[in-house]
Amino acid sequence: MFSAVQGKNIILGISGGIAAYKTPQLVRLLKKAGANVRVALTASGSRFVSELSLATVSGEAVCRETFPPADVPGTDFTRHISLGEWADALVIAPATANTLARLAVGLCDDMLSACFITLRPGKPVLIFPAMDGQMYRSASVRRNVATLVAGGCTVIEPESGDLASGQCGTGRMPDPEVIADRIRSSLQEIRRDSPLSGRQVVITAGPTREKIDDVRFVSNYSSGKMGFALACAARERGAEVRLITGPVHLATPEGVERFDVESACEMHDAAKPFFATCAVFIAAAAVADYRPEMPASGKLKKTEPEMRLLLVRNPDIVAEFGAQKQPGQLAVGFALETSEGLASAHGKLDEKHLDLVAFNTYDRKTSGFDVDTNTMTLIDRNHRETLLPTMLKTEAARLLIGHIEQLMDPDR
Ligand code: C5P
Repeated sequence: MFSAVQGKNIILGISGGIAAYKTPQLVRLLKKAGANVRVALTASGSRFVSELSLATVSGEAVCRETFPPADVPGTDFTRHISLGEWADALVIAPATANTLARLAVGLCDDMLSACFITLRPGKPVLIFPAMDGQMYRSASVRRNVATLVAGGCTVIEPESGDLASGQCGTGRMPDPEVIADRIRSSLQEIRRDSPLSGRQVVITAGPTREKIDDVRFVSNYSSGKMGFALACAARERGAEVRLITGPVHLATPEGVERFDVESACEMHDAAKPFFATCAVFIAAAAVADYRPEMPASGKLKKTEPEMRLLLVRNPDIVAEFGAQKQPGQLAVGFALETSEGLASAHGKLDEKHLDLVAFNTYDRKTSGFDVDTNTMTLIDRNHRETLLPTMLKTEAARLLIGHIEQLMDPDR
């Protein structure tokens, strides 16, 4: 399959955080995808990961000092400039608080910072901060991140989870597979030859929250990752993407218009104005089927030994779109089932007038809510099934968008 990193020159800048131990694996993934990788390692980075490992997996000498040894024949004395000029992308992972500060003020005293300054304009810089959660939230780190973002860098929020400090919080570097995927999508050029190019695509994503009272709600475990991956994939194909999302902890994909909502009714109200004009409606949200009939105002008191909650049906957003879509418009839905899934997914295709259903098997570790991978079966309007093996949601999203393109233009 076409890979956006094939033949691309990538500099991986590594600074001194414990997450540096993951970087040889990242280099391997990039090399396997056909990229040329050079590593710029800071002095503290070299305390966490060995220069020898990085040189072995990249097949190139690791760059550290801006001043090369003067007595080695063939040394490139201007490599502090030439390396930055060579690169199609600069990736800094992990980026420590110290490295963020040095880049933000423009220091240029090692190869990593020199590459940052000499990179050609317009080339993507992806920065993956990783540090203790308290450090990440500090005013100086926030300020430096803001400066780098204003300067055109893409700073990727660290993940939440267990940190080396023994605490749990935000500060973890994403896994190498996730970083490699981010690099791939930032190097991907928007395809103008796609039938989606310039067309409106509306995507719902994430969970909904249905209020019980002013401080409590009914919801589900959806993370929104699949819907956001679809938004990126549709954008890569040149679509004008509107992403209507329930509460999630995800950054807005570049070039995508985002609408934040809470409840199913709000999601319905946000989506409805686009029903008439969108070319494709993709319902990836895990919309609550029911909502409490009468949310209480204030906080309900625990006076009674038991409490009954009357739930009423929510509007089915994709079914409503499916029922009123015009020739040429496509409706795509998801079906997540824990039992007898496939038959029910085929049923949904007809009941909701869909053109494509992505049947999602649910298994807590590799498929379903809040994991990075998915195992799906795509069922098209002729009930033809295509099984996609377990893969990253970002990759599955690209294949699903490819299927939509095929439905829009069968001669492709
Ligand atoms: O019927 P079920 O909830 O399993 O259908 C799932 C599909 O329908 C998903 O694509 C989901 O986004 C969509 N849906 C919706 N509005 C609802 C319920 C589900 O758009 N109220």
